[in-house]
Amino acid sequence: MKITPLNSSENRASNTVSSTSVAQSGIDFGAVVTGLDIAHATDADISAIENAMDCYAVLVFRNQKITDAQQYEFSSRFGAMEQATGDINQSKNRRLAMDINDISNLDRSGKVRARDDRARLFGLGNMLWHSDSSFKTVPAKYSLLSARVIPAAGGNTEFADMRAAWVALDRAQQHECLNLVCEHSQLYSRGILGFEDFTNDERTKWSPVLQPLVRQHPVTEAKSLFLSSHIGAIVNWPVPEARLFIRDLTEHATQSEFVFTHTWNQWDLVMWDNRVTMHRARRYDHTQPRDLHRTTVAGDTTLYS
Ligand code: OGA
Ligand code: MN
Repeated sequence: MKITPLNSSENRASNTVSSTSVAQSGIDFGAVVTGLDIAHATDADISAIENAMDCYAVLVFRNQKITDAQQYEFSSRFGAMEQATGDINQSKNRRLAMDINDISNLDRSGKVRARDDRARLFGLGNMLWHSDSSFKTVPAKYSLLSARVIPAAGGNTEFADMRAAWVALDRAQQHECLNLVCEHSQLYSRGILGFEDFTNDERTKWSPVLQPLVRQHPVTEAKSLFLSSHIGAIVNWPVPEARLFIRDLTEHATQSEFVFTHTWNQWDLVMWDNRVTMHRARRYDHTQPRDLHRTTVAGDTTLYS
C-alpha cells in the first residue's frame, strides 16, 4: 500500500488522479492510496490508513469494486457505525439498507427521480457545504463514499480543509469564534434552499442540536472550524447576525486555496474526516443517474453538553 499526497508532483503531473490539486495552506490535505484492495485490508493497513487520515483528512482509493457488505465491513474497522437516520426515506421507502446512506437520485425501483420529487429536492442539500451528521448530538467521524454510477459530466465533490481555514484567521477572529455554540439542524440547511416540506415527525426528529464552532481533533489536537450548512443559529446571538457571521466564515473557509475537487470514476471510494473538513456535491444533469453509497463511522463523543 502506498499513500501519495495530492499535492505531490507525482499526482499533479500524472493523469492517475483527476482530482485537481491542493493549495498552499502549509497543511497536507488529500492523498491517494494505491496498492490496496480494501476488501482484503490487514490490521496494519487499517492503522496506516488511520494515521494518513489524521494527516491528510481525505483519502482517495481507485478501483474498489465492492458490495455494500464489503463497504460496511471495511468502514466498521474504524469505529462504531452510524445508521442512515438523516436520510429522508426511512423503512419501507428505502432503496438501500439503513446501514447505507443513499446518495443517489434514484427511487426504490432504480429509476431517476422526477425534477420535483421530494427526496430529490431534500438531497440537493448535499450541494451546500457541510460536515456529515453535524445535526446529530454525536456528529460523524469518517464518511466513506463509493461511486456506483457516475453521470457523464459534472457531479464532482469538493472538499475544504477546516484546519487551514482556522489557521488563516487572525487572532481577533479566532478569539471571537472560540466560545461560540451553534444550533445545527437539517431543517436549517434545507431551509436555505426554500425546502420546508417536512412532516411533524421529521421536525421533531431533526430538531436543532448544539455544537461548538471551534473543535479540536482528538489525535492531532489541531483546531478547526466546525462549520456546516446545518447551522441556523448561534446561542445568545440574534438570528440574522448569527447567519451573516456564519455565512462570512463559510466564505472564508471555502476559498479555493483550502479546497480540492474530486472528479469521480466508477468504483472510486473516497473517505474523509468530518471532524476537520466540509464537502459539497456539484451540479450535474438531473436526468442522468448518479448513485453513490455512503457508510458513516460515528464520532466518539458529544462535543457540547
Ligand atoms: C455525502 C455527500 C456529496 C456528493 O455523501 O455525504 O455529501 O458529491 N455527498 O454526493
Ligand atoms: Mn455529506
